[in-house]
Amino acid sequence: MKTAIVSGVGPIDGLGAQLCVRIAKEGLHVLVAGRTQSKLDAVADLIKDQVGSAEAVVADATDEVATKELFARAGDNLDLAIYNTGNNTPGRIIDMDADFFANSWRVCCFGGFLFGREAVRQFIATQRGGTLLFTGASASLRGRANFGAFNSSKGALRNLAQAMAKEYAQDGVHVGHVVVDGPIAGEKIKRGLPEYAEQLGEDGMISIDGIVDGFVYLYRQPPQAWTFELDVRTAKEKW
Ligand SMILES: NC(=O)c1ccc[n+]([C@@H]2O[C@H](COP(=O)([O-])OP(=O)(O)OC[C@H]3O[C@@H](n4cnc5c(N)ncnc54)[C@H](OP(=O)(O)O)[C@@H]3O)[C@@H](O)[C@H]2O)c1
Repeated sequence: MKTAIVSGVGPIDGLGAQLCVRIAKEGLHVLVAGRTQSKLDAVADLIKDQVGSAEAVVADATDEVATKELFARAGDNLDLAIYNTGNNTPGRIIDMDADFFANSWRVCCFGGFLFGREAVRQFIATQRGGTLLFTGASASLRGRANFGAFNSSKGALRNLAQAMAKEYAQDGVHVGHVVVDGPIAGEKIKRGLPEYAEQLGEDGMISIDGIVDGFVYLYRQPPQAWTFELDVRTAKEKW
């Protein structure tokens, strides 16, 4: 059975969790990875009860040892690796502690380097190649007032992903980046920021299913027609 790893899994009604569910439906065994055991267990249990095969793995994406252990657990059948980890970190530059800025970079970019490096090492070692996908945001493409830390770290992740796409395509590694251009209709916005969600309305938030469709599309592409980047936004988004 082919194996997938998804890093950055939180609540069931979130992108990371729904990526896991869909990939399990596609027939892969999924390593559900993130920071909080209870959230990971909930996702892995749901998959095992209803759709397929999964296991929960606690692995802080910024921890090199934990990342290596995560990939060791995936074994030789690794076919798909998704780095979904990323936290928005708003704030004005002049008010920002150095640690706050560095932490944004560690979660959004450095963790992507650790994850991507291990994925590519494993894909090359098995000589079968594989697919490595990253979750981007509006921040990946442009700077915006009050979001300098997040914009710079997501922008750096995108350039890292593009460099890896060019460096390892010949080894059969398909690297892709999905720009999620706007708020996601998931737990983070709906339950975390209910007033904002109401203001946006259902049509103003990006459908998780639609985003997941994009990841699966990239995963299923043949090497004769690979896409590096795909962007997803609502019809209402001004961009
Ligand atoms: N939410 C949006 O509106 C939005 C919009 C555009 C792009 N995005 C991007 O979409 C992706 C998913 O974000 P999401 O906010 O919607 O959340 P999500 O996919 O529901 O969950 C992401 C999970 O990542 C976990 N995480 C955070 N730091 C981690 C670390 N160092 N190591 C391992 N796991 C970690 C968090 O777990 P805990 O809960 O356990 O801390 C969080 O729940 C991110 O890359 C984000 O930048 C989100």
